Amino acid sequence: MNWTREQRYRSFSGMTKEEYEKLQQTVEQSPWRQTFHIQPPIGLLNDPNGFCFHSGQYHLFYQWFPFGPVHGLKHWYHVTSDDLVHWENQGVGMEPQKWFESHGAYSGSGIVHDDKLHLLYTGNTRDSEWKRHSYQCIAIMDKHGDIKKHTAPIIQGPPEGYTQHFRDPKVWQQGDSFYLVIGAQRENQTGCVLLYRSSNTFQWEFVGEVKTGKNDFGFMWECPDYFELDGKGVLLFSPQGLEAQNYHYQNIYQSGFLIGTPIHLDDGFFEHGEFQELDAGFDFYAQQTTLAPDGRRILIGWMGLPEIEYPTDRHQWAHCLTIPRELFIKNGSLYQQPVREMEKLRRSHTAKFDTINNESKTYDSIYGQCYELKSEINIQTAATCGIKLRTGQEEETVLYYDNDKKEIVLDRGKSGERFAEAYGFTRSKPLDVEALSLHIFVDVSSVEIFVNEGAYVFTARIFPSRDSRGIAFFARNGRIDLQVDHWSYEQHEAIRKVK
Ligand code: FRU
Repeated sequence: MNWTREQRYRSFSGMTKEEYEKLQQTVEQSPWRQTFHIQPPIGLLNDPNGFCFHSGQYHLFYQWFPFGPVHGLKHWYHVTSDDLVHWENQGVGMEPQKWFESHGAYSGSGIVHDDKLHLLYTGNTRDSEWKRHSYQCIAIMDKHGDIKKHTAPIIQGPPEGYTQHFRDPKVWQQGDSFYLVIGAQRENQTGCVLLYRSSNTFQWEFVGEVKTGKNDFGFMWECPDYFELDGKGVLLFSPQGLEAQNYHYQNIYQSGFLIGTPIHLDDGFFEHGEFQELDAGFDFYAQQTTLAPDGRRILIGWMGLPEIEYPTDRHQWAHCLTIPRELFIKNGSLYQQPVREMEKLRRSHTAKFDTINNESKTYDSIYGQCYELKSEINIQTAATCGIKLRTGQEEETVLYYDNDKKEIVLDRGKSGERFAEAYGFTRSKPLDVEALSLHIFVDVSSVEIFVNEGAYVFTARIFPSRDSRGIAFFARNGRIDLQVDHWSYEQHEAIRKVK
């Protein structure tokens, strides 16, 4: 972030230099700053945007409000990485300055074309009656990282039959054509996805709605994404307005996918199975994927949700992104695994084999605030078994398997400072297994738990005290055989300071 830009922010936000610096100090003193997750230097982060590999590096942007932990005028913040785990802050990517983004440069995506990164995004405006208008826009980033916006929107508004809730273009190329899926709302207030085609990324033709079988499934679908993987078509989106049901839709808004035969790109026809959630935890939304140069499909999500207050708000920052996950198709469904590059963050390693019989055990060197933990649990006779993370005086974050109910549960009721209380403290999924394989990533204020090769992922922000660093393994009413690998990530500075 260079000085003239900061000066512009301050004049825009009405803040003096001293006031802005005071905010920065408050952020620095926050006990919940992460160490290996992408987080905002100050202010609020939400959706990942423009995720792309270009000129030998991964480029990623996120929705950013720089002046406080609120959903204000959205900018794009830019980060880069050689390996998906060491990220470098590059400062502001796009500031909303044009008439067609007067109320925010909203979410969008990127594609490399003619050796340049083309960023497609939504310009959001409000008229004098505070009515929303949405424009799809383009900006081009050259090899030096300079981003130039096109002078006018490339799609002026939604087609007939749809409201101004029309945003979050995700672009891809197939053959000689470019395609966009855009999140939309029908005039009858139901959510859907619209499909566009172009030969050059500037002129777009409306192909039609993506014809899913979901005609009444929430009031708005945000952040769609589409790709083919192993011959299947996968449509990701974040629907709003689904009612909670047992095991499903427990958060304020959801994120998930439809999987089927590839979408017919000439008319939008899509034959698919049931909607499934991408994450079984508490804090996950508005994900975006990209194709790595080696063909892997990589996903990053926003580890947060709209309209929820988080404890870091009072420290002048909010939210972070998830670690990158690789997507796979297995048994006709989508599986997620942490990218293998995470291994680069491993420091000291401790391994343990043990049997736990109706008790709770801890081990030397297996503890911490930031670490990776792999655990294979053979459930011999135990009625319940699991792991307690970030334990301390009266604090614990518990992942357990209930062998009677055949379900896996994450409980953050005693994780530390409580928030989002209206949405409950446990998340559970049905699971009928004889062995549990857990792959866990813990940072200062989050846990990400991959269950049985990524059949489920539980993502949660937690706000424990600094000295809650214990890890305990337990079995009740019976026995488990346990294998543990623990790698400390302490002393790691994966995210470099603001430029
Ligand atoms: C999703 C979202 C998008 C929008 C952006 C604005 O979280 O509401 O639909 O483009 O955030 O920040």
